[in-house]
Order: sequence, then structure tokens, then C-alpha cells
Amino acid sequence: ASSGCMIVVSNRLPFVLERTENGKLIRKASAGGLVTAVAPVVVNGNGLWIGWPGIHLEDPNEPIPESDPTDITPTAGLKSKKVVAVHIDPVKFDDYYNGCCNATFWPLFHSMPDRAVFRRDKWKAYVEVNKEFANRTFEALKNLKHSGEDIGTDAPLIWIHDYHLMVAANWIREAAIEEEISCKIGFFLHIPFPPWDIFRLFPWADEILQGMLGCDMVGFHITDYCLNFVDCCQRCLGCRVDRKNLLVEHGGRTVRVRALPIGIPFERFVELAEKAPKLLSTNQKIILGVDRLDYTKGLVHRLLAFERLLENYPEHREKASLLQIAVPSRTDVKEYQDLKEEMDQLVGRINGRFTTPNWSPIRYIYGCINQNQLAAFYKESAVGLVTPLRDGMNLVAKEFVACQINVPPGVLIVSPFAGAGETMHEAIICNPYEIESASECLHRALTMPEDERILRMNYLRRREKINDVNYWTRSFLHAMGSLATQEGLDD
Ligand code: UDP
Ligand code: G6P
Repeated sequence: ASSGCMIVVSNRLPFVLERTENGKLIRKASAGGLVTAVAPVVVNGNGLWIGWPGIHLEDPNEPIPESDPTDITPTAGLKSKKVVAVHIDPVKFDDYYNGCCNATFWPLFHSMPDRAVFRRDKWKAYVEVNKEFANRTFEALKNLKHSGEDIGTDAPLIWIHDYHLMVAANWIREAAIEEEISCKIGFFLHIPFPPWDIFRLFPWADEILQGMLGCDMVGFHITDYCLNFVDCCQRCLGCRVDRKNLLVEHGGRTVRVRALPIGIPFERFVELAEKAPKLLSTNQKIILGVDRLDYTKGLVHRLLAFERLLENYPEHREKASLLQIAVPSRTDVKEYQDLKEEMDQLVGRINGRFTTPNWSPIRYIYGCINQNQLAAFYKESAVGLVTPLRDGMNLVAKEFVACQINVPPGVLIVSPFAGAGETMHEAIICNPYEIESASECLHRALTMPEDERILRMNYLRRREKINDVNYWTRSFLHAMGSLATQEGLDD
């Protein structure tokens, strides 16, 4: 571990600010894997979090409120003095966030190029906003250095997160060199990094790579994403690379690339599950889905697979039901609005087709629920259904197994196209694209013998317990910390 301090930089802060009717600013929880994983790093450590507060304030100096005493989210303990809210002109922010991050990088990096929009004005806004984040980060670094606070002996660590901020590092690094402030910069991408053939569709692909290579270390969830990145550096920029040791040479520096699969606060979820009240009053077996309402999550395919199950295996009618939680997400983007419509119709159609006086096949919650309630749902469900078409990692799969403390436990179904599918070998691996086989996976999960369920779940839980979020943070710090011994590529 490092004895220095850490500045986390991400588009989203772990909370959004909202104004109440009487004009008071309050914090509300943000959903998403990044926030869940990174929150403990800043809450428990010596550092700062720089990001967007989810609201455009007229007065950017308006103080950030402390968390409410009733707050039960993992960031309740995050003091306002540890938070720097970045304020950007609203039009520019919209071009950057919706126009470029959500409409270009999200679909492209999930290998869905047909959904991606390429526009130079949006890309320009992206670069400008990255520069503003970089400026705020450097200011924070300078303030820390001159604050007189104990910031430890090691150089401060700047940890940039995700596809919103891929080109921020160089400005920070150059300013730090100019003003002779030492720091190390790491980057972690929470979504997949696509293969070269997809990546190069982005007209300014080289600038993305140069931006990421401004860091000392670049982390991804799994080795495949690392290899895609190294491949792109070689083929787009002509960098010398070392695939075995995952090194890229660029501008006279050697950048380290690492696979650091993210984990969850395992013990916290176990505790939540132990304390969870019984929320579901039913004798039916619950198949649970928990996702942001996003086209990468395979929700339409999932409903069709469940419908096929009821068609082909009528013995599950009135015995099993699907509880799907869909968290509203990126609601300004048309693709997301269309998906909402499609889901509403599909849920209605399937329920209309199969509902009996005593049973509805699908319970559909369109809303965000807190992790206490989530833990109760995870614990009480017989099947965790995690079938994204593509997903960087997917924390829901991990949270589900952490909360499966009942004996005998339930069954996890996971897609091979999620990072989680790469490591959670004892789950039922299910290709979501083929509806027929996905429905067979569901049947298999619902009828799996107890001893097999116990065996599989034990392995799954043991792995997540060891490779938890603290392990992830330590691995990142370790990979950053040992950078001092400069590596180079052999001639
Ligand atoms: N989540 C939540 N409330 C909800 C649904 C989800 O707090 O109603 C959290 C969930 O516990 C998980 C995260 O949102 O930690 C989702 O992360 P994941 O990696 O599965 O997907 P992402 O949203 O990052 O694509
Ligand atoms: C994914 C991304 C995060 C993002 C989250 C929620 O987890 O990797 O960077 O914060 O989705 O999306 P949003 O657009 O609401 O921040």
C-alpha cells in the first residue's frame, strides 16, 4: 500500500446534488459499478474525489452539503471537504456527456458500433471538458501540496476513472512537470476496451490512445481488454509493445498495462444479507435481474428467454417469477428512451399472456433501490440472472453470490460477454443471444439439485471473498507503487 494521498477523478461523484422545494441542496445516491467500487477508497483513505455533482449550480461556490444523518449509502461518511465539484457550462457538458460519452464511447466500447454516433463538435466538447477536469485536478494537487496537511511521503497518486476522462492525463502530467510537483497517474477503464477493428472506427482514435498513454499505468478488468489496448497502441500509433509483460512504449516512456478485475465489498454485503428483513412474501421461486436500464444489459433478450421458458416448460408457470429491477439511466438519450418503451410493452405483453388470478410472471420495478433492499432481494432469490450482451465486469453478479447465505443456496446465471463471465466459472454460462438455449439455462437453474447448488455457490463465494474490492484497490496501489523501478522493453 501507499503512504501517500490519492486524488480520485471521475465524471460522476458518488452522490448527485438535488435542490429541495425550499431551496436546500441535498445529496442523493448515485448508482453504477464505478461509484460502488471506488467509494470505499476515498471514504476510508487520505484523499479527495473530483467529479460532477449531477446538477448545474448558478453559484459554483455554493457549499456542498454534508451527508444526511439518515444516509445509509456507502458514501455517507464522505466529508464535503474531501469532494471537489467540477462545474461545466451546461451546453458544453451535455455535448460531452450525452453527445460523446453516452452516444459514442459507450456503444463503441461495448462493440455496438451501429448505435454509435460520431460528431466532431461533440468530440471537441469532450476534449475541452477533459481539459477542465485536468485543470481542477492539478489545482487540487497544488493545494494539497501547499496545504500543510500531512500527505505522506510518497508522491500523490492521481487515479482517473473511466471513458469520460480518457484524454485528461497529459495536461496534468505536463503541468506537474512544469511546476515540479511529483505525482503518479493511474487510469482504470470500467467498461470493455474493444478490439482494434472496432476501436479504429472512431475518427480520433489516436488521440484517445495518446491520452491514455499520458498515465503511468492503465488498468482494465480482464486480460482480453489489456491485449486489445496494447494491440491498438501498436497498430494505430506504431508503439513498441511487449504483449507478455503488457508494456507499451510511447514518447520515451514505458506505460504499464494491467488486468485488475474489480471486486465488491464482500463482507459488507454479507452483513446486509444477514440483517435483511424478509421483503418477498411468496412461495414462488424468484429469478432476479438488477440492471441500469441500458441496451448493453440484454434486457429484451432476457424477457424473451423467460417467456420461452414459460412456453416450453409449463411446469414453471405459477411456480417461478421474474423480478426485474431496471434503474433509470441516461434518460436524455433517445436509445435509452426507446428501450424504456420497448420494455414497458414487452412486460405488458408477457404478463398479459400468462398472468393467472394468483400469479403474474414478471414484476417490473422501474426505479433505483438502496443496497439494503437489494441485499434482501439477492438473498431471497433462487436464480440471479445476469445476461448482458456486453459488460466490463458486472458487480451485480458478485453482489448476488455474496448475499446467497441461505442453505441451500440459489444459482447464478452469467453471460460470457461480461467480465464476470470470465472469472465466475461455476455459474451457468449463458449466451443471451440465443433465446432457446437461454431458456434452457433458466430451466436448468430452476431444477438444479441441492448438492450441485451448494458446491457451485461455495466456489463462487470463496473467490469473491478473497478478490474483494479492497484486494482490487491494493492491487492497483501495488501496480502503481512499484513503478519507481523503471521498466523498459528489451531491444
Ligand atoms: N445498484 C443500486 N441500486 C439499484 C440497482 C443497482 O445501488 O437499484 C448498484 C448495484 O448494487 C451495483 C451497481 O449499481 O453495485 C451496478 O453495477 P454493475 O457493475 O452491475 O453495472 P453498471 O451499472 O456499472 O453498468
Ligand atoms: C457504468 C460506467 C460508470 C457510470 C455508470 C452509471 O458503470 O462505467 O462510469 O458512472 O455506468 O452511468 P452514468 O452515466 O449515470 O454515470
